[in-house]
Amino acid sequence: MSPFQLTRTLPDDAAGAALRADVLHGLTHTPKELPPKWFYDARGSELFEEITRLPEYYPTRAEREILVERSAEIAAVTGARTLVELGSGSSEKTRHLLDALTGLRSYVPVDVSESALTGAATALLDEHPDLDIRAMTADFTRALELPVTPGPRLVAFLGGTIGNLLPGERQAFLRAVREMLSPGDALLLGTDLVKEEDVLVAAYDDAAGVTAEFNRNVLAVIDRELGADFDPDTFAHVALWNREKEWIEMRLRARQTLKVTIRDLDLVVPFEAGEEIRTEVSAKFRQEGVRNELAHAGMKLSEWWTDSAGRFALSLSTAV
Ligand code: SAH
Ligand code: AVI
Repeated sequence: MSPFQLTRTLPDDAAGAALRADVLHGLTHTPKELPPKWFYDARGSELFEEITRLPEYYPTRAEREILVERSAEIAAVTGARTLVELGSGSSEKTRHLLDALTGLRSYVPVDVSESALTGAATALLDEHPDLDIRAMTADFTRALELPVTPGPRLVAFLGGTIGNLLPGERQAFLRAVREMLSPGDALLLGTDLVKEEDVLVAAYDDAAGVTAEFNRNVLAVIDRELGADFDPDTFAHVALWNREKEWIEMRLRARQTLKVTIRDLDLVVPFEAGEEIRTEVSAKFRQEGVRNELAHAGMKLSEWWTDSAGRFALSLSTAV
């Protein structure tokens, strides 16, 4: 068994500098906002895994159902010898693809969370001792230098994480993915679908409060990394459905008037009672919208599979 390779593509202070820039911009902006990628330190990655097991959080189970059903077909259609996975996290559902892709030589999981990547790669080595695992810490919204591995390549972006990008970011991201695809390569994309508001809101405001803890974790990250004095308990978790944009918004709402000092930014951020920070959008999709966005980025949707309850979709696309 050969150990996996881990390539850190983020220069040493890239994470720190990017966090400082995002926090300075987002907390001096009106309304206040923070990008969701900062949820995922080791604790945030663990909390996300807990979310995936909650009764209210259906997307993981729905996507797994499709993967169980369709992985053999995906393997036959793509004949992939390299699987690149963006935002791979624990790679838990990916196992269905890895088992089905019998010609697979290399697996390239890409994530901002080093703890999630090393945990996933270590667990996979046991089951796939001959697989060449090239884990990469990287921000998938930036230019990615993928390792040279055998084609055809299947690029997977699962979990509905594309919904966490704003529409402009999404378009830029899809164009960059298009540039990764050579003839014969394919994109496997997971998208959560528009459905009843109560089902959606419950998935982001669970009874056990795990999503609330995940949401507040971003404040703990800022406290630790930038010497800030947020008290996460002074912020309430808010999840609401934006009907016009067709996305869930997660926010943190100040329970009282307060001031937060962010030592490393030399910044004091005032909050009025009730003032909110938008911490995440999670867009929900319809088939036509996905097809159009892919077409706009130079890709053609060839397969569209949903789970039996029609809650979530996996699509397969190629470059045109
Ligand atoms: N694909 C997994 C995990 C989804 S959670 C699943 O379907 O269950 C989203 C994952 O994307 C997390 O592991 C997080 O660390 C990663 N992530 C979020 N923003 C990122 C970014 N900008 N670049 C790289 N990884 C990112
Ligand atoms: C990773 N991403 C697809 C999750 C989602 O559903 O938007 C993140 C999440 N946020 C709250 N719960 C889960």
